[in-house]
Amino acid sequence: MPGTELFGIEEKKEINDVLETGILFRYNHDAQRNNIWKAREFEAEVKKVTGAKFAHAVSSGSTAVSCALAAAGIGAGDEVIVPPFTYIASVEAVLFAGALPVFAEIDETLCLSASGIKAAITPKTKAVMLVHMCGGMAQMDEILKVCKEHNLTLIEDAGQAFGASYKGTSVGLFGKTGCYSFDFFKIATCGEGGVMVTNDEQAYKNADSYSDHGHDHVGNNRGMEQHPVIGFNYRIGEINAAIGLAQTRKVPHIREKNREHKNALVSELSKIPGVSFSTLADPAGDSATFLNMFLPDTESAKRVVDEFNKAGVGGFNYWFINMYHFINQWNHLKDLKSAAKLPIHVLGTPQDYNNLHLPKSQEVVGRLISFGIRCTWTQEEVKALAKKIGASVEKALAVTA
Ligand SMILES: Cc1ncc(COP(=O)(O)O)c(C=O)c1O
Repeated sequence: MPGTELFGIEEKKEINDVLETGILFRYNHDAQRNNIWKAREFEAEVKKVTGAKFAHAVSSGSTAVSCALAAAGIGAGDEVIVPPFTYIASVEAVLFAGALPVFAEIDETLCLSASGIKAAITPKTKAVMLVHMCGGMAQMDEILKVCKEHNLTLIEDAGQAFGASYKGTSVGLFGKTGCYSFDFFKIATCGEGGVMVTNDEQAYKNADSYSDHGHDHVGNNRGMEQHPVIGFNYRIGEINAAIGLAQTRKVPHIREKNREHKNALVSELSKIPGVSFSTLADPAGDSATFLNMFLPDTESAKRVVDEFNKAGVGGFNYWFINMYHFINQWNHLKDLKSAAKLPIHVLGTPQDYNNLHLPKSQEVVGRLISFGIRCTWTQEEVKALAKKIGASVEKALAVTA
């Protein structure tokens, strides 16, 4: 949890600015707020880190995904290609937009592959929900090509990849809309918060109104505003934005430290036969929040996790532990169980979710073990961890040798 590792006086100062005025609402109250606009400043900082033309802060990464879909005009009855490996919010957002998720294969990048997307396209496919997993990034050149050829809208859920880039462009900025999560576990946190980014002015305006009951935010009298569209309340509060502002300023430093620690671990662990790492489509753009290690197969990954537990190393496998990131844990979704009646209950499923054929995704996730990188580790701690990980892996793999 690197963002929270560095929680300090900077965050307290930004929060205090808000408390001094008592204006916790991000809009209006111009006379009382003493020119304190934390949501706006947070958005400006996100634009600085990512290079986005427009950024719109909301209440969570999940509502940012919803905004990204709505702002791009994706909704009722549209088929949206999604990965089976993601935090479930990416799929829930598609369902709550009224659209129909179609699962496709990922590859060793841990993200949807271009060939996986291609194989899942039907005449009803409107969009691709590309999720940049575990701090890394997808193979953008190939994916952009497929989207262009098939006229598909690209939406990027970079919930886990704020600070990552591909060939110099931040992930989240390749598609029509993109988004980041700033929840408690991310490289920068608001406590709860999210940001939608785009280079398309109309998409930004759509998100700005959609996330606040359709308010147009013209003028400084909320009671007199127009409501050009229907929306809902996905607003971020000023306190959360204040924390996000202080945290986002720290991202370049956190990323540098993460990369240093991850490189040191990789160079030690790559000496062990049988160990490899997830593919980074652009290694220079890694946010390095996770070390993502592959073992030869699911069985050896399971044994390694057992050894890690015994040695108190940490690290987890998304297949065996109920981290809620892989489709094998989404039985409610497979059976379409929902308190709310969703359009998919009326329109039907585009695939039989209980009988999906996703062998590549199963194989990739089954032999994956991820570690959260900490930016505050000392060099000695990194060395000691590498040693411990190495010993556990060698012990677990020796069983089959
Ligand atoms: C890829 C991805 N998308 C969306 C979300 C949802 O973000 P939040 O927890 O801020 O709602 C997460 C959260 O972990 C995520 O990992």
